Amino acid sequence: HSARLTLQPAATIGTINPRLYGSFIEHLGRAVYDGIYEPGHPSADAEGFRTDVIDLVKELGVSAIRYPGGNFVSGFRWEDSVGPRDQRPPRLDLAWHTTETNEVGLHEFQSWLDKVGSELMLAVNLGTRGVQEALDLLEYANHRGGTALSEKRIANGRTEPFDVRIWCLGNEMDGPWQLGHSSAEEYGRLAAKTAGAMKAYDPDLELVVCGSSSSSMPTFGEWERATLTETYELVDYISCHAYYENTGDLGSFLASGVDMDHFIRSVVATADHVKAVRGSDKRIDISFDEWNIWYNTRFENVDRITGTDNWPIAPRLLEDVYTVADAVVFGSLLITMLKHADRVTSASLAQLVNVIAPIMTEPGGPAWRQTTFFPFAATSAHGRGVALDVDLVSGTYATERFGDVPLVDAVATRDEAAGRYAVFAVNRSVDAPTELVIDLAALGAAGRDLRVSARTLSDPDLEAANTLDDPERVAPADLPVVREGDTLRLELPAVSWTEV
Ligand code: AHR
Repeated sequence: HSARLTLQPAATIGTINPRLYGSFIEHLGRAVYDGIYEPGHPSADAEGFRTDVIDLVKELGVSAIRYPGGNFVSGFRWEDSVGPRDQRPPRLDLAWHTTETNEVGLHEFQSWLDKVGSELMLAVNLGTRGVQEALDLLEYANHRGGTALSEKRIANGRTEPFDVRIWCLGNEMDGPWQLGHSSAEEYGRLAAKTAGAMKAYDPDLELVVCGSSSSSMPTFGEWERATLTETYELVDYISCHAYYENTGDLGSFLASGVDMDHFIRSVVATADHVKAVRGSDKRIDISFDEWNIWYNTRFENVDRITGTDNWPIAPRLLEDVYTVADAVVFGSLLITMLKHADRVTSASLAQLVNVIAPIMTEPGGPAWRQTTFFPFAATSAHGRGVALDVDLVSGTYATERFGDVPLVDAVATRDEAAGRYAVFAVNRSVDAPTELVIDLAALGAAGRDLRVSARTLSDPDLEAANTLDDPERVAPADLPVVREGDTLRLELPAVSWTEV
């Protein structure tokens, strides 16, 4: 197999918004409790946050972190999570059939964000609540002082406003599983009223209206059209959520990026259609605020908690163990989003710790990197500046779900400030390496001066994973690069993700 790509400094797709490298912490399973927060842990700081986890989150390089849900937010009363801890009420969480203690809330989470150096992306509850509660939270979080709720925040220990800039108007309201699930028109009206009221306070807030929970939802396409028709001038982003899993058809699984690409193109087309109909000159971008590999079918069958007497606190939920094959697909999803950097200007890897996460922890024990940690950390560290189209020529392979698909997918980035190019590539061939030729001729003399190296993630055992017993089983390795004049040659291993 072979593939060829051309680095062209002027082939700009768009500027990469740092928010593309965001993530997500939901009050779900052990994401918060026994995840980021474990007061009894040997590495815990004075506030009870695990410093080993803080270090890994920093290493991963996440920008904005969406909080506190997810499905959780659609039944959440934010007031429960602020104020003196001993007065915070435990509550039933109907989304995950658990008990929320509210030991960690808005103030504690912001303090943790300050430690990891990430921005807060806050979701409001539009499932069981509405405009007033969203406004109350906004006043509490963002207003400087002198009003009932801003003074309450100050009394609760935070003099400076949280100054949250980006807000999600509910979560997955198209999903029948969502508390308060509604039709696109109903939700669109509520989102419009909420957005209008929030922007009456601060017109510069960035607001995300809920798009589809996946591109296979029966309402996909029409949901976006209807909600944007209600909200177009009041919001800035529409969300996309997508999870992929290997259901036994490896070839199609490796091509998951094709589905994500189609998803993004369809939502962009729909948003631009609404723009045209309204005669608006405003552009709506995509917040891909849930994306990952998720063995959803396993969760449906195994993890469901039931019974009116059974509401555990922070049980092990959605603790998927990621393989090398998962990490390759994961890396390809980042490539897909970079290829749409002009319109995907915010994204959240769902999620961050323990729950479908790149970082795992054991209570009282270690924290470690899953296979998916590596493509994210490398792409976030080096995929900065502008995304470049690479004019890729590649052989194809036949898939069950998507027909013929290119064996190699790739994107490049150029970071002017760091004086660096990066190429991210996946080889989807399951049986053979693919020779990748990178043509640098368009870079001229600058191309000849580049220092070049490559790292790849692959393994003869596609099921290899990092676990508590063997936390460093999988890691990227150096890949030789052969330089011949203006070209670079690499041999991408079968089922691999590579950074050059
Ligand atoms: O990330 C896990 C769940 O997936 C979220 O709570 C929900 O929004 C989505 O269905």
